[in-house]
Amino acid sequence: MREICSDDALSRAKFMDVEISSESNIFVKKNLVYKIFKDDLGKKARDRKERKVEILSGIKTKTKGLVLPIDKIVVPSGDRRIFVGYTMPFIRNSQTLFDYAVRRNNNIEYLALLSRISKTLRAIHNLPEDIVIGDLNFFNILVDKSLHHYFIDLDGAMISGMENDRVPSLTARYFATRRIPYCVNVNTDRLTMLLYFYNSIFARDIHEVKRYEYDKRSEQIKALKDLKNLFRELKRGDRKVPHIPYLDEVFGNVNSYSKLSLKRKY
Ligand SMILES: Nc1ncnc2c1ncn2[C@@H]1O[C@H](COP(=O)(O)OP(=O)(O)O)[C@@H](O)[C@H]1O
Ligand SMILES: [Mg+2]
Repeated sequence: MREICSDDALSRAKFMDVEISSESNIFVKKNLVYKIFKDDLGKKARDRKERKVEILSGIKTKTKGLVLPIDKIVVPSGDRRIFVGYTMPFIRNSQTLFDYAVRRNNNIEYLALLSRISKTLRAIHNLPEDIVIGDLNFFNILVDKSLHHYFIDLDGAMISGMENDRVPSLTARYFATRRIPYCVNVNTDRLTMLLYFYNSIFARDIHEVKRYEYDKRSEQIKALKDLKNLFRELKRGDRKVPHIPYLDEVFGNVNSYSKLSLKRKY
């Protein structure tokens, strides 16, 4: 994997946009995003990130929608160099899946998108690099104008046994309210997708959603009917997480859903 020097990369660059997030700075130049981790990353975490970035950059897959590292960004320090970040393709004219979900005005289109995203999730889980996304919140998926989707922030994933960085708050609350220790695996990724889906429909945690309300909304969004048993099981508060399907398995043929669901109502 090629290395570019941060001084070089950053001082010569005229960045058109800068996005500040909690753990990194995102710079954009031409078709590339420069993701630079914040300074407080310790040596161990930094080494782990570097290894993950190397593995991610080596992924060979036909599956579209994975935003993978291109070059490592390093800073010289004496006769050594410190890994500080990486470059990746810039996804132009995109918004986060979270923003898309909030602003959507077509539920069929939304369900079809989620269905495609869950297929990509399955493909990621099936990669030989052994990846569990971990922080699969709707801010870590981008959606462009043509409704193509992109998984970003993959450096935070659990890769080849190396631990993940963060966990999504919705899923963390799900485990906490059941008093079960958080556990990161492919089923938890599927659970996260499902919880964020419910959240985008009801705008709150599932334990606050009443049954009659669920049934009422199911009249508008048929997918909810298909997910009703799972919803009940999740609400029961058992100390065990049930087996969660990939969303495309439950959504079935999205276009067959009632015309009623065309317009979002809440
Ligand atoms: N490749 C990219 N193309 C376009 N926007 C991006 C890209 N990578 C990151 N962003 C923007 O920066 C934000 C934070 O990026 P992310 O990789 O999730 O950082 P963090 O690890 O700090 O959460 C994203 O929500 C998105 O708005
Ligand atoms: Mg992120």
